[in-house]
Amino acid sequence: MGRSMLFLGFLLALLGLALPGTQGKIISRCEMVRILRRNGFQGFEGTTVADWMCLVKHESDYNTSAYNDNGPSRDYGIFQINSKYWCNDGRTAGATNGCHISCSKLRDDNIEDDIRCAKKIAREAHGLSPWNGWKNHCRGRDLSSYVRGC
Ligand SMILES: *[C@@H]1O[C@H](CO)[C@@H](O)[C@H](O)[C@H]1NC(C)=O
Repeated sequence: MGRSMLFLGFLLALLGLALPGTQGKIISRCEMVRILRRNGFQGFEGTTVADWMCLVKHESDYNTSAYNDNGPSRDYGIFQINSKYWCNDGRTAGATNGCHISCSKLRDDNIEDDIRCAKKIAREAHGLSPWNGWKNHCRGRDLSSYVRGC
């Protein structure tokens, strides 16, 4: 029993190593700040890196594999991108797939496609109003703590 459990653990570990980039991960606060700065989020459509940090904190808590089922549609990944307008999950009525991407790709630990799609959403909205997490917790507040020391 003990030995077979050990063997199972070993197999699962091997599987984890064999599937890099598919597991999802938690991005640390300052790493997220660096990623946003590197990708030109500061000043993008009148937003700041602190706005985006607060958005990510409240939408996904920096979890690249975050997932929420809202009934008629679902939210995927670190920016909680919605299947009604932006990605295709094959089971959302009237969906438009504006980012031309499979929703499941927004849950892996490669967030380049998430970034491209989030920018498209913000560009079309001229800001971050599509995100309830930002509207309810970030808009009009002092957000300096999200980027402090990074
Ligand atoms: C990240 O989100 C996924 C999907 O909701 C969840 O299963 C996982 O436990 C989360 N990871 C952490 C560390 O909270």
